[in-house]
Amino acid sequence: MGKLYLRSFGCQMNEYDSAKIAGVLASADGLKTCARPEEADVIVFNTCSVREKAQEKVFADLGRVKHLKRANPRLMIAVGGCVASQEGAAIVERAPYVDVVFGPQTLHRLPALLERRRATGRPQVDISFPEIEKFDRLPAARAAGPAAFVSIMEGCSKYCSFCVVPYTRGEEVSRPFDDVIAEIAALAGQGAKEVTLLGQNVNAWRGDIDGEPADFAELLRYVAEVDGIGRIRYTTSHPREFTQRLIDAHADLESLAPHVHLPVQSGSDRVLAAMKRGYSALEYRSIARRLRKARADLSLSSDFIVGFPGETEADFEATLALAREVGFDASFSFLYSRRPGTPAAEFADDTPRATKLERLRRLQAQLESQARAVSERMVGSVERVLVEGRSRKDPRGLAGRTGNNRVVNFGGPAALLGELANVRISAALAHSLRGEPVDEK
Ligand code: SAM
Ligand code: F3S
Repeated sequence: MGKLYLRSFGCQMNEYDSAKIAGVLASADGLKTCARPEEADVIVFNTCSVREKAQEKVFADLGRVKHLKRANPRLMIAVGGCVASQEGAAIVERAPYVDVVFGPQTLHRLPALLERRRATGRPQVDISFPEIEKFDRLPAARAAGPAAFVSIMEGCSKYCSFCVVPYTRGEEVSRPFDDVIAEIAALAGQGAKEVTLLGQNVNAWRGDIDGEPADFAELLRYVAEVDGIGRIRYTTSHPREFTQRLIDAHADLESLAPHVHLPVQSGSDRVLAAMKRGYSALEYRSIARRLRKARADLSLSSDFIVGFPGETEADFEATLALAREVGFDASFSFLYSRRPGTPAAEFADDTPRATKLERLRRLQAQLESQARAVSERMVGSVERVLVEGRSRKDPRGLAGRTGNNRVVNFGGPAALLGELANVRISAALAHSLRGEPVDEK
């Protein structure tokens, strides 16, 4: 029995891929995961290149495990994810002790790549995009708890001027309708109560349902019909394809969580155009307004980029104003990071770093106080909570997540584990809520 040490960086897609990497290596080679690289026979880094000096970080990480090959000459080191996809064979040139380089779309080939490496003695590199083949070659999905993740599409065709994802993960490809529904039904059969539909742009999903072309809004209606699935989430969606049909689904489908993560990036039309986002601040506001009309208790969260090339103080103020007006809940904000190979990397950028950092600090302070206000408003309300396990602080207590994705700790019977329960919120703390279960009647 060999051991696998796997480290995952970056987004939820990568986390999902990492679970699949562990799955293929367990079923093909019987590898069991371990907590320390020193114990491993195979080391995998599933890398991210969306921000910062990700490349450099990967080489630093590799440098730290290189020496382990002396103690265990059979040790294999593999690099996957978006840095692998971007750098390819350059990784092996710079770090010749790396055995396999694979991309987000070739992770199912990892056992074969490792085997070929052992047989030939030569490093193997496969960062191709063989469309949706990946899903057909993965072991059947297994529910690890009441909350399950299902990838419904891969890649991105939006080409925002700052982003590497279309280059590292390829163009948008949807998974067939029947496969998606069969996987969700199988997960529900194993006890999953909540499913999160995953993709870089889930609302770009297109499929064929009974011979008719179908969109994401329609897919949601079918997912809501799957027996046992009490709550549906999806991430990430894009404002450009946020149709009225999708907004209507939020009014009609009770199991759709009252939470949408919809990245806006900036509140300035000038910056949005330079980012090639394909919508204006007004269009974004309109989506938010119609969503709230469809579902009054809806929580909206977002991604922001601060310090995009050419962003002025006025542009930034427009972002602060939009964030306030839309009333965003807990959100992510990032300092713009120049990504070689993207169009924005060539844009003139003369804003001092200190100014950018100061803007980021202001935006984060505002977003945090907005999120705190949402938590405080929840005190006294009854929330639908998916009970995911025991409370971390009190092993006799239970912990779950509200529709708007907050952790709630509460006392209650073990019978609630793995179920959706009604919980009255009694207190809002900095990073969680406290509550008590409400009689289901
Ligand atoms: N599909 C999503 C959308 O609709 O925008 C975004 C996926 S991207 C992997 C996640 C987030 O990373 C983006 O929303 C953006 O805020 C951030 N991001 C992407 N490229 C970036 C860059 N070059 N610098 C800073 N942040 C970046
Ligand atoms: Fe990146 Fe824009 Fe796609 S942020 S993932 S190119 S929607």
